[in-house]
Amino acid sequence: MNIERTTFSGHLGFVLAAAGSAVGLGNIWRFPYLAAKNGGGLFLFVYICLVLTFGFALLLTEVAIGRKTQQGPLSAYKRIHPNWAWLGLLATIIPAIILPYYSLIGGWVVKYFTVLATGNLNNATQDGFFGGFITAQWSPIIFHTIFFAATAAIIYAGVNKGIERISKILMPLLLLLVLGIAIYSCTLVFTDENGVTRTGMQGLAIYLIPDFTGMTFGRLLGVIMDALGQLFYSLSIAMGIMIAYGSYLKKSDNLPKSVNRVQIFDTGVAILAGMMVIPAVFTFMGTEGFGAGPGLMFVSLPKVFQAMGSVTGTVIGVLFFAMVFFAALTSCISILEAIVSSLMDEFKWTRKKATVIGSIYGWLLGIFVALGYNLLYFEYKLPNGSTAQILDIFDYVSNNIMMPVLALLTCVLIGWIVKPGTVIEEAEAGGVRFARRGLYVFLIRFVCPVLLALVFLKAFGLFA
Ligand code: PHE
Repeated sequence: MNIERTTFSGHLGFVLAAAGSAVGLGNIWRFPYLAAKNGGGLFLFVYICLVLTFGFALLLTEVAIGRKTQQGPLSAYKRIHPNWAWLGLLATIIPAIILPYYSLIGGWVVKYFTVLATGNLNNATQDGFFGGFITAQWSPIIFHTIFFAATAAIIYAGVNKGIERISKILMPLLLLLVLGIAIYSCTLVFTDENGVTRTGMQGLAIYLIPDFTGMTFGRLLGVIMDALGQLFYSLSIAMGIMIAYGSYLKKSDNLPKSVNRVQIFDTGVAILAGMMVIPAVFTFMGTEGFGAGPGLMFVSLPKVFQAMGSVTGTVIGVLFFAMVFFAALTSCISILEAIVSSLMDEFKWTRKKATVIGSIYGWLLGIFVALGYNLLYFEYKLPNGSTAQILDIFDYVSNNIMMPVLALLTCVLIGWIVKPGTVIEEAEAGGVRFARRGLYVFLIRFVCPVLLALVFLKAFGLFA
């Protein structure tokens, strides 16, 4: 108990690690799609407004809970209020559900990187390549194992030598790659077989200029709901992660400022990802190319790379998948750390023991998720109407049901039970000036709970 808790070496270490968690597949495969679907600049505007209010309040709350209690998520809630210990359990079960499938998808990224890096871009663009790969018996399991081993090795190495060190290397590299590919993407020009010429700059205009055609109140609500759901996931809120990382933030570091920087990084990369994906997809495929999720990344984009010509396409594709790999790896380590820190703090296990046990669990369950595409294949209809396999069910239950519930209850606990002063005190520790404190109280008590309730209701198909 008296041993001093490990901390990130400083402000930058925390910011890059937390940004590493926040910048993930969501930034790259969902943000651009949602922006394209929701009137471009309009979506960006709504998203940024929500980041500064809703996102800020929730992120600050979680990091403050971690730093105040000096505990992983499992035991942190108990320290805030003894009757709310069960929320800690929820905050540990959520990452435990996400970890296996996130690692599996990380493995898909490694696979595509390997295919492109060995000069086989043309294979990746064949019809049915993606489906064939994920339904294969062994290959997805092998790539999941590789990705998981990398994740586990970093967590095993610890907060400073593992998480902080890798984030300090990969995050600047990732930023450079996104920026470089985004600039390249905006310079593209292509004339299709019908003689229509489209350019990256036109794609950029679609992305950035707000489109109000056919805008009704209902549609605006839809845009807001999409932005909310995305933001929530993108900032790694309600996954136990920010509590774990907050618990390693030095007491002397400025908490509101650190939170702001994480948000700037995450939102910046999301916006750049849109500048990278939308102009390129638009140039080569027109507006039909935009799709959500894996389809965009593993099906549309390889075709876009191919259209750039085999050499250029291979180079850009390899850089792209390297970047996605960095994004996915730093997110996956954060989710494993949420579990490992919980086990260490609750059961007083060593990092070594907690990592080994947490990893065996995540690796095995990841294999189970992989088998959902062959041996254990079924088609299940989710309440929102889509057809699901094991991966989609894990994703749905965690993202749409458990996460909004956890975040909502956290707002109730902080806003109404122990009072916002708990978080404000932590934010102002060491004489820090917390300018938005009045706004914070209003947000955590009223605005966030209402918005989270809407996110929850949306999961049941209440809004189109
Ligand atoms: N913020 C991540 C993203 O945008 C989400 C995430 C983080 C998922 C950590 C899993 C683990 O992709």
